[in-house]
Amino acid sequence: LIIDGKSYTLPLVVGSENEVGIDIAELLEKTGAVTLDLGYKNTGATKSAITFLDGDKGILRYRGYSIEELAEKSNFLEVAYLLIFGELPSQQQYNTFSHDIKTHTLVHEDIKKILDGFPSTAHPMGVLASLFCSQTAFYPESLDPNRSAEGVYLSIVRSMAKMPTFAAWAYKNAVGHPVNYPDNSLDYCSRFLKMMFALPAEQYEVDPVVATALDKLLILHADHEQNCSTSTVRIVGSSKASIYSSLSAGMNALWGPLHGGANQEVIVMLEQIKKDGGDTEKWINKAKDKNDPFRLMGFGHRVYKNFDPRAKIIKKAADDVLAKLGINDPVLEIAQKLEEAALKDSYFIERKLYPNVDFYSGIIYRALGLPTDLFTVMFAMGRLPGWIAQWKEMRENKEPIGRPRQIYTGERLRAYVPV
Ligand code: MLT
Repeated sequence: LIIDGKSYTLPLVVGSENEVGIDIAELLEKTGAVTLDLGYKNTGATKSAITFLDGDKGILRYRGYSIEELAEKSNFLEVAYLLIFGELPSQQQYNTFSHDIKTHTLVHEDIKKILDGFPSTAHPMGVLASLFCSQTAFYPESLDPNRSAEGVYLSIVRSMAKMPTFAAWAYKNAVGHPVNYPDNSLDYCSRFLKMMFALPAEQYEVDPVVATALDKLLILHADHEQNCSTSTVRIVGSSKASIYSSLSAGMNALWGPLHGGANQEVIVMLEQIKKDGGDTEKWINKAKDKNDPFRLMGFGHRVYKNFDPRAKIIKKAADDVLAKLGINDPVLEIAQKLEEAALKDSYFIERKLYPNVDFYSGIIYRALGLPTDLFTVMFAMGRLPGWIAQWKEMRENKEPIGRPRQIYTGERLRAYVPV
């Protein structure tokens, strides 16, 4: 950027701290040196006060609170409240929020008929997104773009409340078991685990180690600013579509292997290395092979050029959880060796290829008894409050309908010649 002959090199992050401490938006406005084209408004970029991310420094904060501190000190519902309403809840606010959620954990009985329509081979993520979207039919008032604040709150609470029920039922459909109803005497994660794993004639006790680990994983996935699924939620919601269809659209975006499906790919890769004898050095070299490079899944991130702070927390959690549950998963050792080797290797260091959030999360999910097909569903359960917060912010800011800018690359004008 050159202003009055003076040149500035700035990372193009509007509104964020940067090397020279200048807010670019403010600078542009004050100097009048550059005209912002309002026609480009809301095409791809957006302002948001929810999640701060500094990819160079490896910083992630929800509403100003560090992810490390939240993962250590809060539970998932507190973090959900923080993301959605902007502040950590007081005891009273927390009690009300969790009570309101418990009031809405049941889903309409007809949902079972919809579920019955899916073959057991249906991927649980597709089932989840469809069931979630069907809420628009059960709660048609959600279609009203001018809903009152109370109405919006009710939809938010319903979304948070029914998500574990839909997620567990999507799993039950895949394994061909009857569904379980939510047990409201339990906390959010335990309620989900019981709906997942309890069998009709058996006594089922939720293991608190499993419930706590899941709670932490959900916190770590709760928001990540404008990623693929989040911007999808915002753009679908910007047309004033219902909250349920907007959130369901986010789930569909998350489903893809490049987004939420990445941790599944990591497990497949680690299993492949294990089957091959577990020689991590060999696979590191394969990844560096110029002629036939092998893609190390779970390494590198579009925004983290240092390390993904969530990966550090998850790595420690994986160690703790597997030790507490007395599980010896050889793929954890392979993952640790891969990371160690990569962090010492100039090839990876130069390319800033560090393990990301997906690298260890699949290993923990597996240890918690969750099948691979459920990994994306777990991601969606964690991301739900982030999507809700982003949807709510977009609506409250009265953002215009999203319309990505297009650069036309086709023919200009063709003479019509019948073929
Ligand atoms: C996420 O948490 O959404 C992923 O790391 C992907 C992203 O942020 O682009």
